[in-house]
Amino acid sequence: MKTCTTIAHYRALYREVKSSGQRRIGFVPTMGALHEGHLSLARALKHHCDLRVCSIFVNPTQFNDPKDYQAYVINLQNDQRLLEQEGVDILFAPDVSEIYPRGFQTTVKVSHLSAPLEGALRPGHFEGVATVCAILFSIIGPDCAIFGEKDFQQLRLIEQLVSDLKLPVEIVRGALIRDTDGLALSSRNSRLSVKGREHALLISRGLFAAAEAFQAGERDAFCLEQIVRASIAQMSNPEIDYVTVVDEESLAPVSTLVGRCRLLVVARVDGVRLLDNLAFAEA
Ligand code: PAF
Repeated sequence: MKTCTTIAHYRALYREVKSSGQRRIGFVPTMGALHEGHLSLARALKHHCDLRVCSIFVNPTQFNDPKDYQAYVINLQNDQRLLEQEGVDILFAPDVSEIYPRGFQTTVKVSHLSAPLEGALRPGHFEGVATVCAILFSIIGPDCAIFGEKDFQQLRLIEQLVSDLKLPVEIVRGALIRDTDGLALSSRNSRLSVKGREHALLISRGLFAAAEAFQAGERDAFCLEQIVRASIAQMSNPEIDYVTVVDEESLAPVSTLVGRCRLLVVARVDGVRLLDNLAFAEA
């Protein structure tokens, strides 16, 4: 795997790759601290491209709390080793000044999709995400890029951004990956205590119970949300940010499930914010 930290170096590699006839470039954007969820995205992208580029960039503009940015620790050497094992071809790992040089002043905002849910709770977060993704697409020049369904609002926002700005990038949806016990994979899981992890499992158990109710014919969003809330309520100190069924396209809340809908949930365990979701589609 080749590693580059500057745009000039990456673009030189890009020209080489394109002139050698390797046509389709696939892109996996990350903020490091890689786990099986990220690696599964890199693996899934293999079927869509000839060459895979991964970025590791801890984007300061998407942290609405500067303390979270300071506390975000990555181990670049370990991440490099994991990507190498996965067969990724190029790693782009720039410094902050390479992406946001002095005088930088442009932002990208996907207005409606960034307003509710995570956007309401983390002001400015999605502007940071949309801006950095637009910059990374412009540097990397990918033919396709993969975003995980775990951060479903982020995935929808990027799909909208690419469509609105007519960017020539195919967005591939990467499946949400769960541990064997059902917990959705996240770099935040490592911050859970043993007891916290047991509590965290009540989130996915709630979602699975809601899926069973849906299979049995339940189409009332409030009933399905209540099933998840009841599961989470078994925690000693339940802290729910939201449990809501939304339309997959608009992310607007629905009262009756019709077409493609998603139950989105965010709850805090041990002070760790955990995101999970489940898709519902009529057979
Ligand atoms: O999902 C992430 O890790 C980040 O939001 C992304 C897409 C790499 C942008 O910084």
